[in-house]
Amino acid sequence: MQVQINTELPDIIQLLPDNIANQIAAGEVIQRPSSAVKELLENAVDAGATEIKLIVQDAGKSLIQVTDDGKGMSETDARMAFERHATSKIRHIEDLFRIRTMGFRGEALASIAAVAQVILKTRRAEDETGTYIEIENSQVIAQEPIAARPGTSIAMKNLFFNVPARRNFLKSHAAEMRHIIDEFIRVALSFPDILFSLSNNGQEVFHLERGSLKQRIIQILGTHHNAKLVSVQENTDYLNIYGFAGKPETAKKTRGDQYFFVNNRFIRSAYLNHAVMSAFQQMIPADSFPLYVLFIDLDPSQLDINVHPTKQEIKFEDEKIVYAFVLAAVKHALAQFSITPTLDFDLDPEIQQLDAISKPLTDERKAELASSSLYKTFTQKNQAHLIDPAQHSELKHWNAMGSGPRGEATEQAMGNRQWTMSDQPVITQHSPLSIQEDATLAQLLNTYIIAPTNRGLILIQQQCAHERILYERYASAGEGKKIATQRSLFPVTLELSAPDAALLQDLLEDLNDLGYLVEPFGKDSFVIQGTPADIMAGNEKAAIENLLEQFKHFSSDKIFSRREKLIRSLSWQHAVKSGRPLNEREMKNLVTELFACAQPNMTAGGLPTYMELKKEYLEKMFGRG
Ligand SMILES: Nc1ncnc2c1ncn2[C@@H]1O[C@H](COP(=O)(O)OP(=O)(O)O)[C@@H](O)[C@H]1O
Ligand SMILES: [Mg+2]
Repeated sequence: MQVQINTELPDIIQLLPDNIANQIAAGEVIQRPSSAVKELLENAVDAGATEIKLIVQDAGKSLIQVTDDGKGMSETDARMAFERHATSKIRHIEDLFRIRTMGFRGEALASIAAVAQVILKTRRAEDETGTYIEIENSQVIAQEPIAARPGTSIAMKNLFFNVPARRNFLKSHAAEMRHIIDEFIRVALSFPDILFSLSNNGQEVFHLERGSLKQRIIQILGTHHNAKLVSVQENTDYLNIYGFAGKPETAKKTRGDQYFFVNNRFIRSAYLNHAVMSAFQQMIPADSFPLYVLFIDLDPSQLDINVHPTKQEIKFEDEKIVYAFVLAAVKHALAQFSITPTLDFDLDPEIQQLDAISKPLTDERKAELASSSLYKTFTQKNQAHLIDPAQHSELKHWNAMGSGPRGEATEQAMGNRQWTMSDQPVITQHSPLSIQEDATLAQLLNTYIIAPTNRGLILIQQQCAHERILYERYASAGEGKKIATQRSLFPVTLELSAPDAALLQDLLEDLNDLGYLVEPFGKDSFVIQGTPADIMAGNEKAAIENLLEQFKHFSSDKIFSRREKLIRSLSWQHAVKSGRPLNEREMKNLVTELFACAQPNMTAGGLPTYMELKKEYLEKMFGRG
């Protein structure tokens, strides 16, 4: 037998023709009309334009045209611009680490020329004539000098005309238009000093005059946001953050208007989003989303913007610092407002925003800060102000009424709070809220407690107030202050479905800290040996079942830890309900304990616990203000 080795097979590797290579590469950069919109808008911004016009037809499928008044291109540059890796923005590898422009890869125009018919008109102010170039399939098919205004106009027609598979892949006009608007908004938000307009099929969708960032946000996101924006601004040597966050009451049920820009580049970052959400924690309901438009500026060498071709992800040299900084800056901004819902006319939000910028630190707070590791990372001057929830309280000289078992905690909380008042210049215009020791309390509609104060009166919603008190008590249970357990004389057995049993099994340890003594008892069953001292005997079973239900309600929420959910569920469930009559002693305890809380003015879920009616308001009501 003979073994045949065929040495005659031809070599099979060939270089792809340029236009096919370009088409394939284009797939990365230009996925849909909106990707082209983004690239063209960014080029116009990089060219120093002060006016940028975007015109699309059929949601960009037939035409995308961007006209700018930027610096234009020479005749040679105009041709070069469509070559792959042709860029005027970087020359050396080191330039990659100091990028200040939006583009730098030199791929966008080459990609666009590979998948659409392109017409470029451009002129530099210093040139007498401009240049007209027509390109199809990456080939220049016409070029001539033209008369043109300084600047550049690029029109791309019939996107993917030569790649039918991609063209068929495009979504409906409405969906593609939505993507275009998203990209347009992102660029327009980052450059409020550039005029932007967008029209689709001859209809103007946006016309955004030059203005401040705040004006731009309002132009884009709606005038109802006026005065509902809190200014965020902190500077350090390492990074700066500025922008706006919506006041807690503007939080929406859908995740929408949330924008992060790093060195003016829109980024997506679940991590930094989490930092903002944490700053809002306890001010907004668990399932809602605050508005924010935040800009972080830092030395480009601290960034890697190279990680993804469409450049929406970004790597920070030190993510943790950025996280801590964002959290602190947003908390600080929110703390500028008395978030207690008072009926108040004279707190002008504009003035508060000015204060947000120049807020002094007290000596006490500085000493505290100096020992934190975060502080050490920042520079000595202009460090971020770290805010804790206690700072929101405007109650200073609270006189504990009656010395209950929690009197000690009350005093301690007062001590902690002392410095925060001098830290809030706006609020000190008003005398601090206090309630006399011998004040007579009254209950209204079995739901509200009326308490006279030094500056009017407050109405306390008993259920919300109690929920806040329990929340803070349970939250500190993990820090060594275990809640007392009352052992049941007749332990109750609980049989659960398999998934509920698994859930309860998971929670046993945390529940134990919170005063529940629950033990597994065979398959999917448990014995309740004891409950927190304040649960009435006989209710043990219902209490655990309700708790599991409530917990499941939170379970899709990734923001909160398991423990946080448990604490929220428990405090919600155990709070005294609206409609329950309270005696004088119960009311006093409730009021005392509420104002001993670190953050007395709302529930963990963001509902107000009390309302204040100030003297000035009452006077206005009676025509004497
Ligand atoms: N609107 C414009 N005005 C002036 N020059 C432009 C414009 N658009 C593109 N260019 C020039 O063409 C080059 C290539 O653009 P592009 O392919 O988007 O790459 P990049 O923006 O990454 O440099 C740019 O570097 C720039 O010099
Ligand atoms: Mg570009």
